[in-house]
Amino acid sequence: MTGGDRYLQIADLHKQSLPYGFLSSLKTETLAAIYRALDCSRGCVVIIKYDQNGLAGFVAGSITRKAQIRALLSHAFSIGSKLIIDPALYQKLGKMFAVARHLGVASDLKQGLPAAELISIAVSLECRGQGIGKVLYNDLVSWFEHRGVSQFHIRVGGALQNAQHFYESLGAMLVPEIKIGINDETLIFMHGDSHTN
Ligand SMILES: CC(C)(COP(=O)(O)OP(=O)(O)OC[C@H]1O[C@@H](n2cnc3c(N)ncnc32)[C@H](O)[C@@H]1OP(=O)(O)O)[C@@H](O)C(=O)NCCC(=O)NCCS
Repeated sequence: MTGGDRYLQIADLHKQSLPYGFLSSLKTETLAAIYRALDCSRGCVVIIKYDQNGLAGFVAGSITRKAQIRALLSHAFSIGSKLIIDPALYQKLGKMFAVARHLGVASDLKQGLPAAELISIAVSLECRGQGIGKVLYNDLVSWFEHRGVSQFHIRVGGALQNAQHFYESLGAMLVPEIKIGINDETLIFMHGDSHTN
């Protein structure tokens, strides 16, 4: 499989598993370019699991929001050339700025959240309930620990109750006092001892 195919598969799985977020409104090629950028950049990672049928799941994380932005900027040409022809960009540009305002670095720091983040995780429908999500999550925890990071945060849609149970079962805790997002619909979970660094 070529590298390009791998990121297209990840983008497909992201769109199937998380259909309501802004990223899923982008074209598959655009999202694939974003995952490639994250995977190829220092401070960011995409961990992938395969089974005999192909892609079973993935998790993406970053040590800081700056590392995410650096990743996107260093691949700006490839992402930008796809965004230009992506109609979702124009439809959602206003919303994207609103989301960026709400989810920006400043609000993270103000609220005392750790800078590290689990950006996204998904397991294919056929492979769910077999412990693959848990393995991916723990691999990301190890990846962070090898880089001296013991705490990270996770943004979870308020409607994603299965995902909330999943994170709780792995020891992440809801940070109830933090509300972010356009309608306060995004919950924050924290992995690690406390939500103050
Ligand atoms: C959330 C997700 C990654 C879990 O992957 P998975 O491989 O099915 O999870 P695992 O089999 O490793 O389950 C680990 C634990 O999580 C909990 N869990 C997993 N799926 C759950 C569900 N649907 N409902 C409640 N708890 C669940 C269980 O406690 C489970 O432990 P157990 O099997 O010992 O009881 C997967 O369901 C998925 O891709 N969902 C769609 C994408 C998504 O919501 N991502 C999170 C975005 S913030």
